[in-house]
Amino acid sequence: MKRDRYQEDKYEEFQPPETSLRALTLLDEILRARPPQDARLLNYLLLLRHQLEVDEKQFQEAQKALQEYEQVYEKLTSPANRIGVYLGSPADGVAMIAVGDTEYYANIDPKMDASTLKVGTRVRINEAFAVVGDLGYHPQGPIVKVQEVLEDGRLRVASDPQGMSGRLVLRGHDLAEVTIKPGDEVRMEPNLKVALEHFAQREARDYYFEEVPEIPWSAIGGQEDAIRVIRDTIELPLLHPELFRKFEKQPIKGILLYGPPGCGKTLIGKATAYNLTQEYRRQLGRDVREYFMYISGPKILNMWLGESERMVREIFAAAREKAREGNLVFIFIDEAESILRVRNSGRFTHISNTVVPQFCAEMDGLVSLENVVVMLTSNRPDYIDPAILRPGRIDRKVKVARPDKQASRDILAIYLHPNIPLDPATVREYGSEEAAREALLDGAIEYLWRKHPETEFVQVYLRNGGVETLYWRDMVSGALIKSVVDRAKEFAIRRAIEEPSVEHGIRPDDLKRAIEMEYRENEIFPKSDVMEDWLKLIDYEPEYVASVKPIRPGSGGDDLRRTVI
Ligand SMILES: Nc1ncnc2c1ncn2[C@@H]1O[C@H](COP(=O)(O)OP(=O)(O)OP(=O)(O)O)[C@@H](O)[C@H]1O
Ligand SMILES: [Mg+2]
Repeated sequence: MKRDRYQEDKYEEFQPPETSLRALTLLDEILRARPPQDARLLNYLLLLRHQLEVDEKQFQEAQKALQEYEQVYEKLTSPANRIGVYLGSPADGVAMIAVGDTEYYANIDPKMDASTLKVGTRVRINEAFAVVGDLGYHPQGPIVKVQEVLEDGRLRVASDPQGMSGRLVLRGHDLAEVTIKPGDEVRMEPNLKVALEHFAQREARDYYFEEVPEIPWSAIGGQEDAIRVIRDTIELPLLHPELFRKFEKQPIKGILLYGPPGCGKTLIGKATAYNLTQEYRRQLGRDVREYFMYISGPKILNMWLGESERMVREIFAAAREKAREGNLVFIFIDEAESILRVRNSGRFTHISNTVVPQFCAEMDGLVSLENVVVMLTSNRPDYIDPAILRPGRIDRKVKVARPDKQASRDILAIYLHPNIPLDPATVREYGSEEAAREALLDGAIEYLWRKHPETEFVQVYLRNGGVETLYWRDMVSGALIKSVVDRAKEFAIRRAIEEPSVEHGIRPDDLKRAIEMEYRENEIFPKSDVMEDWLKLIDYEPEYVASVKPIRPGSGGDDLRRTVI
């Protein structure tokens, strides 16, 4: 009895947990309705209740584990999300997205915070094409050149390396306020819809501009004809535009300076820029700057395929920009035959020359009197595509020939000018500094102009069967004469260092020795026997020449005179 009582009390203290489980609820019912004195039954029932609770817990744990497995299984077997680019949100909860070239009007997962999405960002898209995640900007993508910036901010970019065709793209969120200029570069996201990153143009344009030193026309020896043609064709229309308009005479846009190396093509080009600007400034009575754009043809040629065309376009664009500011611009293309070669000719037959049409288009686009003068130079004008030399483009060909005897003397006088110390003994011998200088000049030129076995330099075999020997004097150039004077100065300086107590200056012998060394060592004379290289030097129409045979100095015999072709 006592024991029963205890059992009963114990149960009465027992508060069954709120449970929805039918089995436990049922058991609790049974416990309440149990026969009052049956302690054994009560024990069994309590035991059963405990067991039920344990089972229930285990069951719940198992169910949870199963659910987790199911989730993992689903994740592993569900298809990958597509990735698109977010272009904007036309309405609440909706996004414009692009995947490749296709665009979608997609719902945004309501669980996502749509306000954080940025134009250009990558978004995750599920199978129903709803936006379900934000992946941020893509870190990679092609870099393209900006051709134009539209007023609404969109960018026209080049879609091929030649920049021939373009496409309009949006600015990414982060570029919305950035100042972007044509010529700059931007990085596109991989769908090519949105520009994400901006690269300001490297100062590539300024790279071409060169300072023009002071070169008055008087600093050029000889070349009177060339200089006259240049002044007539370039200077007059610039200084007298009203006359040209009156006579409806189109001023020329460009000239070609051609001739052997070292005879002053580059020098004349720079002198033209310098002198013309001086004249122009005087005439206008205001400050005008000259811009000399020095462009090396071979350098441009060595660029990546397609880059050369882009460069040509940029050069002209830069020139126009400077000209618009009221300046004079000289586009000087050295060794023009390398880039403006006759199409499908020469060494690069497999590459069709696309620079030529590009260049022609730019020339045609130049409005006359736009203050842009184009100057080309070449040692092989026969290689230049005739389309370039058509009227309206490069209308005038100016030969910068090798100096004759008088011109050579003039050039020598420019470099051996009165400030250069002469040898005191020589000065004494001729009575005055002036007379000695004249004598030095005459002596050197006579030495150079000798027709003598010692001065034989090259034999030219003509197609008509003739053979002609060229002497030193036929290979003279301004560069060579300058170099002769430099060598002679070196000899005098060396003597002055060895014997500091005595006055030293240039002697007649210095010049003669220097001339000999020049012809032996001058870099411009090809060391090889490649005819192409010699054709640049000799003043013959290439088509008349069958072969060229250099006569090596000091050979002394026919066996050492090698034949070349
Ligand atoms: N007629 C000249 N009068 C004075 N100096 C000259 C003359 N011709 C050449 N020179 C000197 O030779 C140097 C080289 O000449 P320049 O560079 O003008 O030759 P180029 O005809 O352009 O040769 P290349 O075909 O090799 O480019 C000049 O800087 C100048 O010092
Ligand atoms: Mg040159």
